[in-house]
Amino acid sequence: MRKLGREADMLADTHKIFFITNNDHKVKEANRILSPFGIELIKSNFIKLEIQSKSLKKIAKYAALFATKRMFKPVIVEDSGLFIKALKGFPGPFSSYVYDKLGCEGILKLMNDINDRTALFKCVVSFCQPNSKPIIFEGIVYGEISFEIRGNSGFGFDPIFIPKFGNGLTFSEMPPEDKDRLSHRGKAFRKFGEWYISNILNLK
Ligand code: IMP
Repeated sequence: MRKLGREADMLADTHKIFFITNNDHKVKEANRILSPFGIELIKSNFIKLEIQSKSLKKIAKYAALFATKRMFKPVIVEDSGLFIKALKGFPGPFSSYVYDKLGCEGILKLMNDINDRTALFKCVVSFCQPNSKPIIFEGIVYGEISFEIRGNSGFGFDPIFIPKFGNGLTFSEMPPEDKDRLSHRGKAFRKFGEWYISNILNLK
């Protein structure tokens, strides 16, 4: 990440953008990641349109466009998912539904006899301004599915995901700043923050 100290000081006000989500964990993480950029995301109660698609990009694009057209404000939508190699990418775009129905235990059961634990998390951030097309920022973190549930922090599949370069800990076992440094969400929102500073605030 670039040094943002001076630029962040130059921002008289925090820039507030609506975040279309009902997931408080995502809001908390995104705001931790974006605070060095002087950007604050405000959770919006606007109902997120969820189209059926295998592509996180398409889902996030449509939802952002739909919300911007009705709210007449710049918005952010984020779609993310866990892709497990041995399960041919499952649960992928269905991660939220699968987490609600099966949880971490269900995934561990599905992988009971599987030695190849390779997996990745992907995050797509879609930023859309009125009368513009959505702009997309992506982040991926590679890793493995653990053999048991480990740790207490975070949300969703954090207790069973061991990111590469995380000293063998699951996301749930590490401090939040370490998750942000390694995570799919950290990567995608930092790309957005850099872009916003250069293209919207014209600070570069
Ligand atoms: P959606 O983006 O609202 O469709 O939800 C994606 C789902 O993937 C979440 O409900 C979580 O179950 C899971 N997920 C996405 N990102 C993370 C993460 O950072 N940690 C753990 N689980 C996640």
